[in-house]
Amino acid sequence: MSAYIRSVSTYCRRSIAAKPLLTNSLRYSDGAVLETTLRLPLILHTIQNADADPHDRQGFAHFMLKEIYEQPEVVRTCLAAYLKPDWTTGEQAEIPSSPFNFSLPAAMLADATQIQIVACGTSYHAGLVAQHWLEQLAGIPTRVRSASEFVSAPPPLTTNTLTIAVTQSGETADTLAAVKARRSRSEGFQSWLLGITNQPESSLSAAVDATLPTLAGTEVGVAATKTFMAQLVVFRCLALEFAYRRRVLSAQQVQQAIAALQALPDQIEAVLQQEYETIQTVAQTFAAVHDCVVLGRGINRAIALEGALKLKETTYIHAEGYAGGEFMHGPIAMLDANVPVIAIVPSGSVYESMLANAQKVKTNGAPLIGITNVTEPPDCAMFDYQCTLPPIDEQLSPFLTVVPLQLLAYTIAVQRGLDVDRPRNITKTLTS
Ligand code: F6R
Repeated sequence: MSAYIRSVSTYCRRSIAAKPLLTNSLRYSDGAVLETTLRLPLILHTIQNADADPHDRQGFAHFMLKEIYEQPEVVRTCLAAYLKPDWTTGEQAEIPSSPFNFSLPAAMLADATQIQIVACGTSYHAGLVAQHWLEQLAGIPTRVRSASEFVSAPPPLTTNTLTIAVTQSGETADTLAAVKARRSRSEGFQSWLLGITNQPESSLSAAVDATLPTLAGTEVGVAATKTFMAQLVVFRCLALEFAYRRRVLSAQQVQQAIAALQALPDQIEAVLQQEYETIQTVAQTFAAVHDCVVLGRGINRAIALEGALKLKETTYIHAEGYAGGEFMHGPIAMLDANVPVIAIVPSGSVYESMLANAQKVKTNGAPLIGITNVTEPPDCAMFDYQCTLPPIDEQLSPFLTVVPLQLLAYTIAVQRGLDVDRPRNITKTLTS
């Protein structure tokens, strides 16, 4: 039997006898062997019936790893839900017909002249990526606000500002408080509240005018991974919707942008498949460090922050996420041979400047790990270790650049013998 496996969840629905750590084939308990093109880190477990318990680790050693590997399927699920399969452009109409299934009040999108995003932690970082798309693609001025700061320092009210609250749990106290504050202060103002959450039945949904679900399925690991990926998909679709409505993008350009989104699951699978062993090597080399830095520019500054957050919460390593340029203004003094630096260096507008930052890091003696889709020497020769991504447009690169960082955080945490699914001092949802 030979088949191309499209996702981890597809094959995990059958009973698997046992497999070693990295595998291209699976032996089912009924004796059949399934050859795959994916090499996956299955840990020895006999799966009796993976469908029986939605919280089953399905052969993975930890939920966090399972959830990282579910990301291609999460993107597929979100796109299937949000893309209209029968979309025809209708470009001549006054309001072009939307390619997306949003089911939002028409005025919510039509009226927005500014957007503010409120969120915490990983959801805040999804907001930062979205800010880039909403401003650089759709041309809508956007602010991302830390929900925990919103109540004590509420921003001045402005009309036609769409507030988007993002929270995977829908129950984060700081985000709910920010929504409540926004609601109570904005009476008499033309303003809408939109929620993006993985829990459509949550307190958030009850507090906003409309909700866009992220459809990532239950996330058990405390460290958010697949819910972040799903938030990015929803935000990308929303930014494209705004850009199309405002005629910043033509129907043909939107079609191309949608095709690029549809290519993402296979590209994420390629990263998972090809970079696992590099990540293992990097993790082994740096598992004992005390400090680490993640650098990114432009849209990948948000991913640098997210990568550092993942490292901090799962490995307890002191990790700093910085914009590549800003890091030169003082923090670079902390570098030496014991402080590895991870540089996110996608091709595109920040390529040269990120390379220059990486070079500076290297000359200051820090071990350098590159996450890049550029493979030609001499540029990549400066990296001590390199995670190579498939070719990708810079605007979409966060969907890929975050994956090696999630895997690295996971792998180092395991190497340090930590409880990766339940890190100390934090809970999945901060309700107080
Ligand atoms: C990071 C993490 C936290 C949450 C933050 C917000 O992995 O899990 O930083 O992202 O507490 O949680 P939600 O999205 O539920 O509001």
